[in-house]
Amino acid sequence: MFCLMLLACVLFKLGVSLMEERLISKAVIGRLPVYLRYLGELKDEGVEKISSKELSDLMHVTASQIRQDLNNFGGFGQQGYGYNVINLYNEIGRILGLDRRYNMILIGAGNLGSALSGYQSFENRGFSFKAIFDSNSKLVGGSIRNIPIMDINVMPAFLENNKIDIAVIAIPKTAAVSVAETLVKCGIRAIWNFSHVDLNVPEDVVVENVHLSESLMRLSYNFNERMKERSSYEGHKS
Ligand code: NAI
Repeated sequence: MFCLMLLACVLFKLGVSLMEERLISKAVIGRLPVYLRYLGELKDEGVEKISSKELSDLMHVTASQIRQDLNNFGGFGQQGYGYNVINLYNEIGRILGLDRRYNMILIGAGNLGSALSGYQSFENRGFSFKAIFDSNSKLVGGSIRNIPIMDINVMPAFLENNKIDIAVIAIPKTAAVSVAETLVKCGIRAIWNFSHVDLNVPEDVVVENVHLSESLMRLSYNFNERMKERSSYEGHKS
């Protein structure tokens, strides 16, 4: 009886903590890779511990923001000590799912696809391209960084015979929707979508849309705001 109660208690706690992780805001999740990048640099420099004040100075965010963000996952800091860099790096990596490896395929071996599959650092992070698919017969049979480029028509058979976690779409938007449908039919549940089109996929499929142009527009906005501030400051001076 006691064992059953203990098991129920453990399962309840596990359920609550899973729910908590699910309810974390997108803004916090968006900041985790930034924390990871800074902590990775500190780790490589041999820094063992860091206070939230030091981390905040480095990252140009407030110390309370850092504490609030990390408290979502249980804190990790110790009063009067700060954060252990390696522990925090590993914990954030675990939260981001970087403590395992992912098999990926890429659809589209054009300009963008070549750049993505040619980037070795994804591999180092645990994201491994197993095959590239394209409809251009001139590209089929070739390879990028030893990753074979295959005919798009053999993709379903490849997915049946290989365990693939993530599909990356880098083809024109006119073709992306039907390719995504095929991917879903073949069991793919995570899509990194670079095509400028919304994919109509079931709820259990995770899609991360990437739009570099949106980032460029933010840069353009911030640049223009900065220029306006500077000209009004210089106007005041003269
Ligand atoms: P690209 O023309 O160089 O390459 C597209 C490739 O897709 C070609 O190799 C073509 O043969 C292949 N393809 C076309 N239809 C296909 C199909 N049904 N199945 C398999 N392969 C197919 O184009 P690029 O510059 O590489 O751009 C690819 C896509 O990525 C475009 O939709 C573009 O708008 C988008 N893009 C998105 C960016 C972003 O920030 N999200 C940045 C740059 C491009």
